[in-house]
Amino acid sequence: MNDDLTVLGLESSCDDTAAAIVRVSKGKAPEILSSVVFGQNDLHAQFGGVVPEIAARAHAEKLDHCVRDALQAADSTLDAIDLIAVTAGPGLIGGVLSGVMCAKGIAAGTGLPLIGVNHLSGHALTPRLTDQLTYPYLMLLVSGGHCQFLIARGCDDFTRLGGTIDDAPGEAFDKTARLLGLPQPGGPSVEARAKLGDAKRFRFPRPLLDRDDCNLSFSGLKTALLRTRDQVIADQGGLKQKDVNDLCAGFQAAVSEVLAIKTRRALALYLQEAPQFPAIAVAGGVAANQSIRTALEAAADENGVDFVAPPLTLCTDNAAMIAYAGAELFQAGKRSDMTLAARPRWPLDQTSPSMLGSGKKGAKA
Ligand code: KG4
Ligand code: ZN
Repeated sequence: MNDDLTVLGLESSCDDTAAAIVRVSKGKAPEILSSVVFGQNDLHAQFGGVVPEIAARAHAEKLDHCVRDALQAADSTLDAIDLIAVTAGPGLIGGVLSGVMCAKGIAAGTGLPLIGVNHLSGHALTPRLTDQLTYPYLMLLVSGGHCQFLIARGCDDFTRLGGTIDDAPGEAFDKTARLLGLPQPGGPSVEARAKLGDAKRFRFPRPLLDRDDCNLSFSGLKTALLRTRDQVIADQGGLKQKDVNDLCAGFQAAVSEVLAIKTRRALALYLQEAPQFPAIAVAGGVAANQSIRTALEAAADENGVDFVAPPLTLCTDNAAMIAYAGAELFQAGKRSDMTLAARPRWPLDQTSPSMLGSGKKGAKA
């Protein structure tokens, strides 16, 4: 029963409105029949961050269009759908509510079953959608909103080994870009400048390395960058292109090194479980960074662990991951009903305490 499922997924927890159709069939790799994402970058650009109210309105407006486009792109109709999966948290509450209401409407209108999905489990299960990884595997989520190490043992069974105690690395890249007058999103522009710079000229702090755990901190790095920039300006009367390149290179080297060192610690804890097919997977926009990727891959190689980086379109926010996670949950017997609530906070690992406040992209669980 439920071996073959065609799932409509909805995602609206931050600044991307997305719908996707995914088919899971016994004995076959899952298939993404369509995946539609409407980004909201233009709407928020002038505010320097995501404005929750603007995001919620845009989601409410765009969700129907996304569903229509996803069905059209899959050459399908609601008659062919077996399950509606929707992000029910964590995230900006107005956006999550928009998605949950839309999903409930479709479920009520069609009589289809409904499943609420944790956005972070969508990211964490992506390597099963793309590479059919077997449990347990280690997962590093690194984006503008998330930074945590998880052991994924099942679709509803995660252990958090650690995470950022303040900002996510993507936020630090974006802030660095703003401080240096580079375009947003900051990650790609800082990476491009870092390639031209000397990473040894400025030495930035490597926070929390003295602590023998998997927690990270990035807010001090931002402050250090600001101070160093101001010092250069004070000494030279301005910032030259070479200074910007060197600052970017030094900053990126610090982030890469901290992530690699903490990844080695997380790998050591994960390997204590003697997994049959050891693997570490990454998700999130920051995983696009070549220097970070190379550093993580090296840590995985040293430990004889497979390194899996799904394609970027599936690493960043999308609804295919929600549809896929919904399918796994449904097949494991989970169900939601019309009482499904939108949750601004929803830690994946219910046993470990929440460490974060709300960042620029909302609650990070
Ligand atoms: O996963 P994502 O699209 O959205 C969420 O944060 O949910 O990640 C976006 C973040 C931004 O902060 C962006 O600057 C960062 O990922 N990013 C990068 C790179 N590309 C995107 N950071 C470092 N290097 C990159 N090449
Ligand atoms: Zn996300």
